[in-house]
Amino acid sequence: MSSRIQNAALRDRIMSADDAAALIQSSTTVGMSGFTGSGYPKSVPLALARRIEAEHAAGNPFRVKVWTGASTGPELDGALAKADGIEFRLPYNSDPIAREKINAGEMNYFDMHLSQVAPMAWQGFLGPLDTAVIEISGITPDKTLIPSSSIGNNKTWLDQAKQIILEVNSWQSEALDGMHDIYYGTALPPNRKPIPLVRPDDRIGSSHFKVDPDKIVAIVETDAPDRNLPFAEPDDVATAIAGHLLEFFAHEVKVGRLPPSLLPLQSGVGNVTNAVLAGLMDAPFDNMTAFTEVIQDGMLDLLEAGKLRMASATAFSLSPTAADRFNRDASHFTSKLILRPQEISNHPELVRRLGCIAMNGLIEADIYGNVNSTHVMGSRIQNGIGGSGDFARNAYVSIFMTPSTAKGGKISAIVPQAAHVDHISQDVQVIVTEQGLADLRGLSPKQRADTIIANCAHPVYRPMLQDYYDRARRSSFGQHAPNILGEALSWHQRYVETGSMLPANG
Ligand code: COA
Repeated sequence: MSSRIQNAALRDRIMSADDAAALIQSSTTVGMSGFTGSGYPKSVPLALARRIEAEHAAGNPFRVKVWTGASTGPELDGALAKADGIEFRLPYNSDPIAREKINAGEMNYFDMHLSQVAPMAWQGFLGPLDTAVIEISGITPDKTLIPSSSIGNNKTWLDQAKQIILEVNSWQSEALDGMHDIYYGTALPPNRKPIPLVRPDDRIGSSHFKVDPDKIVAIVETDAPDRNLPFAEPDDVATAIAGHLLEFFAHEVKVGRLPPSLLPLQSGVGNVTNAVLAGLMDAPFDNMTAFTEVIQDGMLDLLEAGKLRMASATAFSLSPTAADRFNRDASHFTSKLILRPQEISNHPELVRRLGCIAMNGLIEADIYGNVNSTHVMGSRIQNGIGGSGDFARNAYVSIFMTPSTAKGGKISAIVPQAAHVDHISQDVQVIVTEQGLADLRGLSPKQRADTIIANCAHPVYRPMLQDYYDRARRSSFGQHAPNILGEALSWHQRYVETGSMLPANG
């Protein structure tokens, strides 16, 4: 396996995952690689979890603070959370065990905009970084590092950590070499300069990480797959949402507000966004580009079919089948894909300049179009804001998509008032459910409410929303965005008490 480590001197630092994990101390901060289930270390975190369990069994406290790029995999967040080994976690988590710990109040979690993590680390707001544990796909003879299937915050972790542990994963395709573009021109104010990227396919950096070799304390060899769940085939609801959105794009092209190849696409992960990408296969748009956070299955299909000319992102997020397909034929994609640090892939200035079309999921939206992407019933974190805020606020068109109900119809995704707000109404321009699409651009709050209730609400909940809104129009303290304060969150309260937002006689 050590053919991936082409520098002879560094081969001396190869050791077992257990020996590497022994170099990490309790209460320290560990910056791990990993973004949406790709490019995360798969061996050292498991060894660290074993060590933590042994320490706990011996009555010794042992927990670490974990920083990543975004979500990782069961071998990292899952194993460490199960061992009760995470004291603090940032910036995005989708692991179910870690989610339970956070929602039980047993783990501190700082959910932040993904583009802001690296700058905040450089600004010193997050505290010192003790250890970086980074998966790579190889080491060159001149001691630079070949990244693997995600970049995330790796550049920053490698630069800032006092000591570095590398996992060299030979499962990762060697054809990844050349796909990355790591920008080394960032600086702190007042020395910050414009980022010289004007098209999604511009390359502005190096294809390898630079590293101080003296900081590398351990190298662990692995041969383990990135782990992501398979996508479901688009169901009727997802297909209907995609249909409404594609009709909207066609209309925008027709009236001249979008070019025929659209504008750079940003697409969140999940079954609905994957259905939209599947729909784009047969849509009359060619030569499309993506300036997005992750490359998912649907994007690979579009690239292969030649519909998408190229895609820029920070990571892959592929189902096992698509990951196998990619690894077999990765060289085919080398010229069409660019992976960048997440502070560049999600950079608000670039998103604004390129004019991205942002497409993200939501938990709930209220009748005025404020969007909750993160907190179920206003208090239980689902995943986190991820990059949705980076894109939504700065996009050319900011679109949010959701089925109109959740939990078998017991929850309406359109509510009188969102119980938590991640995206204020000014950052939400289009909402789409399987019922229809609400184009909110240029509308006042009352016009937005009329449109959202009529176009997006489920027929079971639509009369309830209309009734609430009509009464608010009569009794609200103000008539700009009418509400009934004592009732606005009563649907959520009813769900918490009865398990349904529908009234008992409803
Ligand atoms: N109330 C309660 N639960 C809800 C809900 C609501 N209004 N809406 C969705 N959910 C639950 C679903 O029931 C499901 O739960 P389950 O896993 O227990 O079945 C879960 O949330 C996921 O919902 P799903 O309908 O499968 O949609 P999704 O996979 O598209 O996820 C978000 C939707 C909002 C959770 C997801 O898009 C997200 O985390 N967004 C924030 C980050 C983001 O936008 N990232 C992309 C930026 S680049």
